[in-house]
Amino acid sequence: MTRYSKVIGTGAYLPPNIRTNEQISETVDTSDSWIYERTGIKSRRIAGPNESAASMAEIAARLALDAANCDANSIDLIIVATGTPDRVYPSTGCLLQQRLEIKNCVAFDIQAACSGSIFALSIADQYIKSGAAKTVLIVGTEICSRIVDWSDRSTCILFGDGAGAVLLSASNEAGILSTHIHSDGEYEDLLYCPNPQVATDLNKHETGVINMRGNEVFKVAVNTLGKIVDETLEANNMDKSDIDWLVPHQANIRIIMATAKKLKMSMDQVVVTLENQGNTSSASVLIAFNEAVRDGRIQRGQVVLLEAFGAGFTWGSALLKY
Ligand code: ACO
Repeated sequence: MTRYSKVIGTGAYLPPNIRTNEQISETVDTSDSWIYERTGIKSRRIAGPNESAASMAEIAARLALDAANCDANSIDLIIVATGTPDRVYPSTGCLLQQRLEIKNCVAFDIQAACSGSIFALSIADQYIKSGAAKTVLIVGTEICSRIVDWSDRSTCILFGDGAGAVLLSASNEAGILSTHIHSDGEYEDLLYCPNPQVATDLNKHETGVINMRGNEVFKVAVNTLGKIVDETLEANNMDKSDIDWLVPHQANIRIIMATAKKLKMSMDQVVVTLENQGNTSSASVLIAFNEAVRDGRIQRGQVVLLEAFGAGFTWGSALLKY
């Protein structure tokens, strides 16, 4: 009998503090209309001084556990996707394990920038399918606001903070149908965030903020996400019309619309959260997925395509039957 990874619970957390486009336009030369027209973003959430990737992850994780009616002690693996960990080490996964007060599980982080949650889903699925794990908690959590240069109008308009979680369990019923992940380190210069604390002669003058050549990233993202859609459908012998929901990484409404067009999907079948959240990097897909599950748009038995693209470049998809 085939062993699947089934979604048994989802959760998300967004910090209450809102930063609007108007507020940003008070400090850099931009406007609400420029930002909204080019990105689809109106506001984003900014974590408070006492919040961190781990603290937000805990709230999202507890909500996912509650939704699944599952005790934290049944988790055998925690995978946290983050580019803004509380500490270099221990991993945010270990910090989350501590916060959940559990001991008998493995916990680690993965770093794949905005594609992090898709990479985590792929790893979790391999563990579950092979029988190495039964219950896996995945969290994407980011405090992007702390690695954004708030004087750089080309990046500070895009990012926001938050966490999304999903709990997977081994099941005989269909769940994750396939995952597809890719990396190409050739594109480092188009999108990166230095780590000045670990300075080398190559980066010693850099500050730890996001650097992005947005227009070039945009073009590669549109092209690549189109290809990942084809790859996913082909691997499952499916047609575009078999997909009920698209849950994309929330980077830019124009990138999302291009992917929906490629799938010949109406925007009514696309989960969009970026208007009031911005790009929460590795958290965005799971936050959007949680929202559509909780408001009843995504129903049990429906086919959902999650996809993301981020620094590296990294990109990937996960096709699942909810
Ligand atoms: N307000 C006003 N003008 C601006 C702003 C702003 N906030 N930002 C840039 N501009 C100006 C530029 O200076 C430029 O002016 P110029 O023509 O005089 O030189 C002009 O607007 C056009 O700039 P572009 O960069 O070509 O604008 P574009 O339409 O590409 O939009 C954006 C920029 C929104 C950043 C877009 O390129 C984008 O969304 N890129 C993709 C981002 C992404 O997907 N990132 C991947 C995930 S992130 C991760 O992995 C961490």
